[in-house]
Amino acid sequence: MTAAATALLDEADELWERRDALPGTATERVRAMIELVDSGVARSARVDEAGDVVVDERVKRAILLAFRLFPMAESHAGEFRYVDRLPLKAPAAGVRIVPGGIVRWGAHLAPGVTVMPSFTNIGAFVDEGTMIDTWATVGSCAQIGKRVHLSGGSGIGGVLEPIGATPVVVEDDAFVGSRALVVEGARVRCGAKLGAGVVLTASTRVYDVETGEELPRGEAPAWSVCVSGTRIRSFPGGDFGMSCLLVVKRLAESERHDKTTLDEVFRAHR
Ligand SMILES: CC(C)(COP(=O)(O)OP(=O)(O)OC[C@H]1O[C@@H](n2cnc3c(N)ncnc32)[C@H](O)[C@@H]1OP(=O)(O)O)[C@@H](O)C(=O)NCCC(=O)NCCS
Repeated sequence: MTAAATALLDEADELWERRDALPGTATERVRAMIELVDSGVARSARVDEAGDVVVDERVKRAILLAFRLFPMAESHAGEFRYVDRLPLKAPAAGVRIVPGGIVRWGAHLAPGVTVMPSFTNIGAFVDEGTMIDTWATVGSCAQIGKRVHLSGGSGIGGVLEPIGATPVVVEDDAFVGSRALVVEGARVRCGAKLGAGVVLTASTRVYDVETGEELPRGEAPAWSVCVSGTRIRSFPGGDFGMSCLLVVKRLAESERHDKTTLDEVFRAHR
C-alpha cells in the first residue's frame, strides 16, 4: 500500500473518534477510502505470514462511517426484464433496497427495513428496522416483526393457501441464522435466536435441554437460543435420529442484545 493510501486510511480512525459530529469533508474522504477497499488496495483482514488473521480496523471503521455518511440514492436494474402478473413494490418511505432485492407489490415494508438481494413475496409484512439479508426469502403472507434479522439464505415460508392456514410468524427482535428454514406456520417468538441451518416446521418437536421438557411444537420460545438437534425414535426397522429443535439457552435481560450490535450499525443508515 502506498504512503498516500496508508495516510488516507489513518483518517478513518480520526473520523471515527469524531463520528457524532463529522466534518463536511468526511463523505468524500470516506468515499476515497472505500475506493481503496473496492480496488483491493485495502482489506479489512488478511492472513499474515504466520497464518494469523490480521484485521485492519481502519477499513472496518471506514465502512461503518460510509453507512453513516452516504446519502440514499435510487438506482435501476439496467437491461434486466421480467414477465409477471404483479408489479414490483414501489419504493417505500424509509426503506433501503439494495440492487437485486426483489419485493413484490402487496408486500408491506415498514420504515427502516433493509432489503439485501433477496425475495419478499406479496402479502408479507415486514416491520420496522428489520434486515432481510442476502438470498433470504420471505414467503407470501409471512409476518416479520420489528428489528428482526433474517440472515443470509434463510427461508421464511409463505402460507398463502389454504386460506385459513396460519402464516409463519417471526416476532420482534428475533434472529434467524443463515440458511435456517421456518416454514408451515411455525413461529419464532420474541427475541428468539435460531442457529444457522435450523429447520422449524409446524410439527418440529422442541425440547428444553436444561429441563428435558418438551415444549409446544413448531415454536422457538421467546428470548431463547435454539439449534438443530436429533431425537432418537424407534421404528420397526431400527432406531433412527429425527430432526428436532433444542433450546440450548434462555437469554437473561442483560444478554439479549449482545449479538445485535452489528445489526444496529447497519440499520443506522439514515
Ligand atoms: C445458535 C447460535 C446463536 C448460538 O450462539 P451462542 O449463544 O453463542 O451459543 P454457542 O455458540 O455457545 O452454542 C451452544 C451450543 O450449541 C451448538 N451450536 C451452535 N450453533 C449451532 C447450530 N447452528 N446448529 C447446531 N448446533 C449448534 C454449539 O456447538 C454449542 O454446543 P457445545 O456447548 O456442546 O459446544 C450460533 O451458534 C449461531 O448459529 N448463530 C447464527 C450465525 C449466523 O447464521 N449468522 C448469520 C449472520 S453473519
